[in-house]
Amino acid sequence: MSRILLIVGGGIAAYKACELIRLARRAGHSVTCVLTEAGHHFVTPMTLAALSENHVYTTLWDLKDEAEMGHIQLSRQADLVVVAPATADLLARMAHGHADDLASTLLLATDKPVLAAPAMNVRMWLHPATLRNVETLRADGVTVLEPDEGAMACGEFGPGRLPEPEAILAAIESRLGAGRRLAGRHVLVTAGPTHEPIDPVRYIANRSSGKQGFAIAGALAALGARVTLVAGPVTLPTPAGVDRVDVETAREMAAAVEAALPADAAVMVAAVADWRVDTAAGQKVKKSEAAPALSLVENPDILATLARSAQRPRLVVGFAAETERVEEHAAAKRLRKGADWIVANDVSGPRGESVMGGDANTIHLVTETGTETWDRMPKGEVAHRLAERIADAL
Ligand code: CTP
Repeated sequence: MSRILLIVGGGIAAYKACELIRLARRAGHSVTCVLTEAGHHFVTPMTLAALSENHVYTTLWDLKDEAEMGHIQLSRQADLVVVAPATADLLARMAHGHADDLASTLLLATDKPVLAAPAMNVRMWLHPATLRNVETLRADGVTVLEPDEGAMACGEFGPGRLPEPEAILAAIESRLGAGRRLAGRHVLVTAGPTHEPIDPVRYIANRSSGKQGFAIAGALAALGARVTLVAGPVTLPTPAGVDRVDVETAREMAAAVEAALPADAAVMVAAVADWRVDTAAGQKVKKSEAAPALSLVENPDILATLARSAQRPRLVVGFAAETERVEEHAAAKRLRKGADWIVANDVSGPRGESVMGGDANTIHLVTETGTETWDRMPKGEVAHRLAERIADAL
């Protein structure tokens, strides 16, 4: 998932920017729009707000906007600034460093990569002034796409049409991907508990919230990985850019993991139930009957099976919840399960500060070369650090 700041200039092709917002969001990106004054003549802030599901910024001089999100902050919080359509005038003002409206000020203040998709009349595009401006912008590091050639709204024919939204999105992905360490990699993540049915209404479960696994899936996607998240029953929103497969039982999770292969890495964060009820009742067990004796059988060990399979990902990471002698047990678990790394957390704390369901974790990362301890930190930070370590290893 990436954050795109989309500046919509004043040209008839502005309607195609609407389609671009839709495509970019479908690809998992968030889009925040800035509409120039000229842009207002072609599309409305309402259209852009509805499609982006975000506030639309239109002027430097809005006290409320400035108080909530200053224009400097707005220019920096994106991963990529996209100008589409980039009119001849916008290109000229960008090339000369103007800062007399919101769009030009953002473009001057940003420290993020900028991609411009030009659209204008063929004569304007071929004018030496525009060609000079494009050359200047490219020398400044701005990606300026070549416009398409064809019939134009003004009745002329030639280069100057806005590239199709699909082509702009591909250019966006490629510009973003250049700086993203896990682009082109597929990572499999399991998260959450599993539910093992006793009868159609009752099940055996555990306290896993799925928060750590979901945070890891999101952090990997933010580094550009294609992420398949196999999730047990939890009520968390899917992190942007992540493909989610919902499952209930350990056996369903095992099947979903197998179906998602091949992968470059697997991070098994799920708290998989070790046992299931041997023969779950087909109908609800009535209280009037004698208290049932549950006969349990072992579930497949998804991590151990994957680590020893023919399709073993290059890096297999397991998690371990331990209550005593954490490092020693984690090291033994690493060997027993055939994992490359075990991320161990101490879950012995009193309920009030429990790791399971809580928002922070103390981590021991056990690898072939030893153990590293990460002091108690938010689960989001654990996720970020682990994703970076995975990128180092792949
Ligand atoms: N795991 C798995 N499939 C299972 C059980 C566990 O994939 N059926 C994975 C978990 O996702 C985790 C790791 O194995 O990455 C460790 O799980 P844990 O339950 O802590 O280990 P156990 O093998 O159950 O060992 P013990 O209960 O003895 O601590």
